[in-house]
Amino acid sequence: SGPHAILGIETSCDETAAAVVDGDRRILSNVVLSQLDDHRVYGGVVPEIAARAHLDHLDAIVARAMQEAGLGFADLAGVAATAGPGLIGGVLVGATLAKAIASAHGKPFLAVNHLEGHALTARLTDGIDFPYLLLLVSGGHCQLLLVQGVGRYRRLGTTIDDAVGEAFDKTAKLLGLGYPGGPAVERAAASGDASKVELPRPMVGKPGCDFSFSGLKTAVRRRVEEAGDGLDAGGIANIAAAFQKAVAASLVDRTRRAVDLLEAEGLAGRPLVVAGGVAANGTIRAALAALAQDRGMRFVAPPLVLCGDNGAMIAWAGQERLALGLIDGMDFRPRPRWPL
Ligand code: KG4
Ligand code: ZN
Repeated sequence: SGPHAILGIETSCDETAAAVVDGDRRILSNVVLSQLDDHRVYGGVVPEIAARAHLDHLDAIVARAMQEAGLGFADLAGVAATAGPGLIGGVLVGATLAKAIASAHGKPFLAVNHLEGHALTARLTDGIDFPYLLLLVSGGHCQLLLVQGVGRYRRLGTTIDDAVGEAFDKTAKLLGLGYPGGPAVERAAASGDASKVELPRPMVGKPGCDFSFSGLKTAVRRRVEEAGDGLDAGGIANIAAAFQKAVAASLVDRTRRAVDLLEAEGLAGRPLVVAGGVAANGTIRAALAALAQDRGMRFVAPPLVLCGDNGAMIAWAGQERLALGLIDGMDFRPRPRWPL
């Protein structure tokens, strides 16, 4: 096992996760327990159920992460946990356990912003330098950020209504594809023909770098209503494919504008990074990769296991913060809202 290992705990949504990452960017363990089955019947994440499930499982998940890393708590250089933003019940469970371990073993406690975890993952996987352009696409967020350093983010664009993952989840519901929506829509889209269904391309051609997905969702609803009982698996696949294509086009258009903006500021050729749960989508990854190639930028997308919520990204953000001496006190209060 490597030097300077940090335990990272993630409990801000419906994944109970813990991981150990060392100072040489090695992931010594990465354990993720999905609560999907607990929430599926409700068609979405129920905060109270999530908090209780984190409480039930986190001890065992942390023990497994430590065991797989071959380390005891005494060997750690620090303990990091997501301290927001997210469902506060779950965040409290994770942050409180991290504080307890840190204080019992005299280790630094690192309160990590969940979004910073996603934002710095590309430095864990690919070791890229600052600054870089980040498209952060998850269930709760859709933002374009210039990542200038740890704790130094400049927001270039954000969504004016739904997050992109939320749009996938709502579209899946409309199409009867179940929860979670992203992977289900992507699977259905694989056998669909996008050209069979006309859908708007949200914000394409508009100035600025903001996003909007509620109009697209409404358009999907209209297509579903128009089809009525005649909507078969083939029709569902076509709508899913058209939706996914429209989302990719919108993300690429907005990202291209951010690239223009940075080029105008003398920041041409910096890496383009995508992160967050939606970064797992193959169509979106391919569209962004093409944009990056076109603009002479290195494209970095995390491996699929590091797109969705995980402990490794929190442990790594902890590494970055500890290296800068950004240690937090035991009085750090978890934050349900915490913009980057
Ligand atoms: O980052 P994440 O795991 O949790 C949040 O911090 O929100 O992102 C979850 C979101 C969900 O909305 C899920 O439907 C979406 O990511 N997602 C996908 C795919 N896999 C997960 N969206 C599109 N395509 C996918 N393959
Ligand atoms: Zn996330």
